[in-house]
Amino acid sequence: MSSTPDTTALATKAVGITEYGAADVLRPIEVEVPAPGPGQVRVAVRAAGVNPLDHKVRSGALTEVFPVTLPAVLGYEIAGVVEAVGADVTEWQPGDEVFGQVRGGGYAEYALAAADQLVRKPAGVDWTVAAALPVAAETAWRSLDLLGIEPGRTLLVHGAAGGVGTLVLQFARSRGIRVIGTASEANHPYLRELGAVPVVYGEGLAERVRAAAPEGVDRVLDLVGAGVLPLSIELAGGAEHVLTIADWSAASHGVRFTAGDEPTDYLRPALEGALALAAEGGLNLPLHRVLPLAEVAEAQRESERGHVRGKIVLTVG
Ligand SMILES: NC(=O)c1ccc[n+]([C@@H]2O[C@H](COP(=O)([O-])OP(=O)(O)OC[C@H]3O[C@@H](n4cnc5c(N)ncnc54)[C@H](OP(=O)(O)O)[C@@H]3O)[C@@H](O)[C@H]2O)c1
Repeated sequence: MSSTPDTTALATKAVGITEYGAADVLRPIEVEVPAPGPGQVRVAVRAAGVNPLDHKVRSGALTEVFPVTLPAVLGYEIAGVVEAVGADVTEWQPGDEVFGQVRGGGYAEYALAAADQLVRKPAGVDWTVAAALPVAAETAWRSLDLLGIEPGRTLLVHGAAGGVGTLVLQFARSRGIRVIGTASEANHPYLRELGAVPVVYGEGLAERVRAAAPEGVDRVLDLVGAGVLPLSIELAGGAEHVLTIADWSAASHGVRFTAGDEPTDYLRPALEGALALAAEGGLNLPLHRVLPLAEVAEAQRESERGHVRGKIVLTVG
C-alpha cells in the first residue's frame, strides 16, 4: 500500500476491447496499474457494475456521442479499497472502503477514480450491492430532480424494473411521488413491492395508463427509448413534462434528453439517499446476475437481452 503515486506495473486482471463488435471482442488485456494524478485515487476493485452503456460502447454504437480510445477497458462503476491517492487528495487514505463512478476502466483489478466521485462504503453494505448503485442511483436522482416533480404528484416511468427504474421507484416513494411503472407481467409483483402501480408496455399502453391514473399523470420518465415519446407527451400534457435518458430522437419531439453532463453533481446526494434507505433496511436492489470478471462477455450478453431486473455485477479479485 502506498499513499503516493507509484511506479506502474502490469495489472494481472483487466478485460478490455481492442476492436468494436459482439461480446466476444471482450478479452483479458494487459494494462498498466494506473498511478493516481492530482485529484485521483487508485482503487483495488472488488466489484464492478455492468450497465447497458457498456455493451453499447463495446458494439461501436456510440462512437460519435461517447468516443473511447482503443484498446479500452469498460466499466463505469466500482466498489473497492483505496490503494493509493494523488498528492493533493486529503479526503481518502489507503485502506478506505469506497464506491462510486469511474470514467471507464472498471473491469479491472485496479481503477482510477476522481476523489470526489467516491463515497465511503458502510461495512454492512456488500461490495456487489455497492458496485451496483452508482450509475443507477445517480441517474435516478438526476432524473427526478430535472423533472421537478413534487410530492403528491403522479409519475409514469417507462422501463421501471431495470437498474435505473429500481432506484427511481424507491427515490420517488421516499419523496412522496406516486409512480405508475411499465414492465412485462412477470415484473409486476416486483414493481408493486417497490410501491408502484404496474402496467404492461406495448399496444394499448396509453389506455392502460389512463385506467391506472384517471386523474392523469404529471410527468413521464422514459428509461427505454422504444418510441414512447409521442404518447408520453400526450399523457403528460406537453413535451416539457417528459424526460428521457434513452431516446436519441428526443430533440425532434421537443423532449429533454439527459446524458449526465449537467453541471450539478447528483452522484453524492444520490448515493447518500440510497445509503439512507439501506440503513433503514428499505433498499431493494436485486442482483439479477453476479459473475466473476472473467465472465464479463456473458454479463454483457444478458444485459443486451434487455430484461435485467435490478442489476448485473462482476466480482473482481
Ligand atoms: N442518459 C443517461 O444518463 C443514462 C444513464 C443510465 C442508463 N441509461 C440508459 O437508460 C436505459 C435503461 O438503463 P438501465 O440500466 O435501467 O437498463 P436495464 O437495467 O438493462 O433495463 C432492463 C429493463 O428494461 C425493461 N424493458 C425492456 N424493454 C422494455 C419496454 N419496451 N418497455 C418497458 N420496459 C422495458 C425490462 O423489463 P421487462 O423485463 O419487464 O421487459 C428490464 O427490467 C439504457 O438504455 C441505458 O443505456 C442512460
